[in-house]
Parts: sequence; structure tokens; C-alpha cells
Amino acid sequence: MTQEAHVTQGPLTTEAGAPVADNQNSETAGVGGPVLVQDQLLLEKLAHFNRERIPERVVHARGAGAYGTFTVTADVTPYTRAAFLSEVGKETEVFLRFSTVAGNLGAADAVRDPRGFAVKFYTEEGNYDLVGNNTPVFFIRDAIKFPDFIHTQKRDPYTGSTEADNVWDFWSLSPESTHQVTWLFGDRGIPASYRHMDGFGSHTFQWNNSDGPEGEVFWVKYHFKTDQGIKNLTAEEAEVLAGKDPDSHQRDLREAIERGEFPSWTVGVQIMPAADAATYRFNPFDLTKVWPHADYPVIEIGRLELNRNPRNVFAEVEQSVFSPAHFVPGIGPSPDKMLQGRLFAYGDAHRYRVGINADHLPVNRPHATEARTNSRDGHLYDGRHGGAKNYEPNSFGGPRQTGRPLWRATSVDGSTGNHPTSVHAEDDDFVQAGNLYRLMSQEERERLVAQLAGAIAQVSREDIVERAIGNFRNADAEFGKRLEAAVQALRG
Ligand code: HEM
Repeated sequence: MTQEAHVTQGPLTTEAGAPVADNQNSETAGVGGPVLVQDQLLLEKLAHFNRERIPERVVHARGAGAYGTFTVTADVTPYTRAAFLSEVGKETEVFLRFSTVAGNLGAADAVRDPRGFAVKFYTEEGNYDLVGNNTPVFFIRDAIKFPDFIHTQKRDPYTGSTEADNVWDFWSLSPESTHQVTWLFGDRGIPASYRHMDGFGSHTFQWNNSDGPEGEVFWVKYHFKTDQGIKNLTAEEAEVLAGKDPDSHQRDLREAIERGEFPSWTVGVQIMPAADAATYRFNPFDLTKVWPHADYPVIEIGRLELNRNPRNVFAEVEQSVFSPAHFVPGIGPSPDKMLQGRLFAYGDAHRYRVGINADHLPVNRPHATEARTNSRDGHLYDGRHGGAKNYEPNSFGGPRQTGRPLWRATSVDGSTGNHPTSVHAEDDDFVQAGNLYRLMSQEERERLVAQLAGAIAQVSREDIVERAIGNFRNADAEFGKRLEAAVQALRG
């Protein structure tokens, strides 16, 4: 392990800088007498210790991060005017935090769960955050279902444990989850490490190539292909590793970077001209679906390398904040309902978890430009604005609005309402889950069915079991038949 030398010179001090005479024995009234309130060092240490933890992330609590570099390898200026993508060879500093989703801060890494893949690009036009996963799709397609979904992944209010009943009750009642669940219980469900998996932006995002009248809009999906190759753990291997080395992923990432084996990913995008969206065979903003590569091929645009470990895990990983709402000129949201909900959820979580000035911390603030806002004060405000005026417009030379939106307007029609998703020919919940199953080899299918059956067999209620199997049957009749037989064999 390489660790920076402790560089502080001089004696130990209190928080206020006064030298400490004795850090081993509390001050007492006489030898063996009670401890005195005037021992301010003791009180300060105990009080500070009590406040060392901040709330963990409500999801993705368990994670590891590293800094690195993103390099552009193809000309994408016909599609976006984002400055960090403006030239082949251009480099941008990044910070990437990997995570698991459901586990608490101290949970083991080697578990069956999607992995978070959150990238912060420190661009000259502000920080651009792409807060994705290692899977191209998700369990649900509307943010309004997210808190309920996560409740079923976390501990039951009565038993205090995660419960198969809750997990499968929700999934079986949410057939749109069938695609992601098929993915999750397949071979890629437990990556061997954070280095040996792909990343995805998952949602569809907007790119635009100009903010002038001639500007065009494109819908894009991001892909990060691991250059280390995909490696996964079997369920049995993961069980052993989770017990032996709960920090396996975190350790692997740190040690690889310490050895100078810098992990990298080849970055690509699928690009859909905006006009295609209305008539595409399914809703291109539905997060439960991929865009088949035959429809929109992945075009390579860059390389992302991680090459520097954080110096302090709490300051730089625990307090790092990523928001899908952090866009830069040339990039914006799509109407994906999940993404729209996430645009609110992350900033709100940061204000609660880290505080109103979270974006001022070194890992979170822009590195290639500066933030010039009129927000002031709040907990732990560092006085960065000095005596500058704090309103706009002002006649004292303060920063001014640009009049140039980051993304382009899109048209809407119809009436307001809680509309279920849409009207495209293939807007069903099962086609892509079935396609994924049919793509698998016989051996892969066997392992998938065995893993699913093992999980479903834990459920206590027959109606939930039936409904769960029914979703896979709808995806592919043979899939359903094999799963039913496997569950029956286990349940007897
Ligand atoms: C973390 C909400 C869907 C990827 C979080 C956090 C919240 C949240 C509140 C914790 C943020 C923090 O405390 O810093 C939601 C909501 C969703 C949603 C409301 C659905 C509407 C997704 C999806 C993905 C995703 C679809 C991936 C495609 C992540 C990642 C993190 C995260 C990677 C960890 C970020 C980090 O490393 O700090 N989510 N999430 N989430 N979410 Fe989501």
C-alpha cells in the first residue's frame, strides 16, 4: 500500500491549535478521581468523534472512486457543441465513482446487484456528470415507482432483513422489470471487479450542435466498454469472496492503480436523429429497453482512463456528489420519465446528505472553470465570494446570464395527466427480455434459470411465485417452462 507520508510538523494540538500536553490520560480530580469538565481536549475529541458519520447515500452507499482522464478519439462536432468534445485528442480530467446499489456502507462488494458507474467530467464549461450503471436498462421506467422499488431491495420494516417476498412481489407486479431482472440473474450479474465491467449512461440524452437557428438535435446513449475484458464471478465464487474479502472491488481498484495498471474504457455513443424518435418501433426514451445496435450502431468517440487514487476516502469519495442534472452547453435531458425524476432527486439528496455547500468541496467543484453564482452563506460556507455583490443584474461588473440555453427546446402536445407510456408498435414489456434470453448459449440459459429459481424458491407465497414465473414465460415460452420446472424441483 502506498500512503502519503504524514507531513504535519510540530506538536499535536487541539482543533483551535493549542499544543496538547497529554493525549493518553484524562484530567481527573485527584489520582483515581472523576474526570473534570475542564478537560476540553477530552470533550472535543468525544464530541467530534460522535459526528464523524454523515448520512450514507440512500442507494449506492457502498462504493469506490478514482480520478483519471477522458480523451476524445473521434470528431463529434456534427452532433454536439460541448467544448470538452470539440477536438480529437482533447483531454478532460474525470472522477469516477463505482458502487453497488442496495447494500449499506459496510456491505460486501461481491454481490448480485447492478453496479453504479458515475462519471464527473471537469470541463471548461462546468462539470458534466453522467450517473449511470453497468447495465444499459433499468427495472422501471417512471421515477414515481423508484422509492417503492428500492424499499423492496432494502430491509423490511418488520423483519429488518431483505425479504424475497418483497423483491419478487414488486418485480412480478412490475412486468417492465423482466428485461433488467433477466440481465441481473445472468452471468454478468456479479462482476469480478469494477475494472472488469462495462458502463452505460443508460438513459437517452440530448446532444445539440448549435444554439443558433440552424442547430440540430440528436438523441444519444453512452457506452463505456471495458478494455480489461468482461470478467464475472459465479454465485459460489461470490459467496466465498464476499465472506473472505468484503472490500474486494474497492481493494482491486486501488491496488491496480497503485501498480500503475490503469484501467480504461472505450467510450462510444449511439446517435439517433431527433426526427426518428416519433416513429421508432418503441419509445426511445423508455429506460427498460436498449436500442439494438443494428438500428443505431455504437460509434467510438473516446477513451477514459483511471490513473489516480483519492488521497482521502471520506473527503473525496463519501462526500463526492454526482447529479444527472449537471449538464454543459450542447448536452441536455430527454423526456425519459426516469431521468426527469432524477434531475430533481440528486441535488436534493446532496443538500441533505452533504449540505448546501456540497458543490464547494474540492472533489465536487469545477476544476477547469469556476462557479460564479449569487448563492451565498449556509453551513460551512467558505467565504469564497468575498465582498462581491450577490445579485444579478448589477452594475458592479458581476457575472451576467448568457441568454444561450444549454439544450434545445423540444415540442410537446396533448393534455396534462398521469399518462402511462406510449404508443409505439413495440412498447411491450417482454420482447427485449425474450431477445436477451434467446441470445444466450444453452449453458448460460441453464445458469440463468438456476439462479432465478434459487431466488424465487425463497418466496413464501404461491401467487407471487406464479406471477413471477409468468413474466418470464411471457418473455419466452421455453424460458418460463424451464424456470417453472426448476422452481418446482426446489420447492418440492
Ligand atoms: C445514487 C435516486 C435511478 C444510478 C442515487 C442517490 C439517489 C438516487 C437519491 C443518492 C445520491 C447521493 O446521496 O449522492 C434515484 C432515483 C432514481 C434513480 C430517484 C429513479 C428515478 C437511477 C438509475 C441509475 C442510477 C436509472 C443508472 C442508470 C445511480 C448511481 C448513484 C445513484 C450510479 C451513485 C452516485 C455516486 O456514486 O455518488 N440515486 N436514482 N440511479 N444512482 Fe440513482
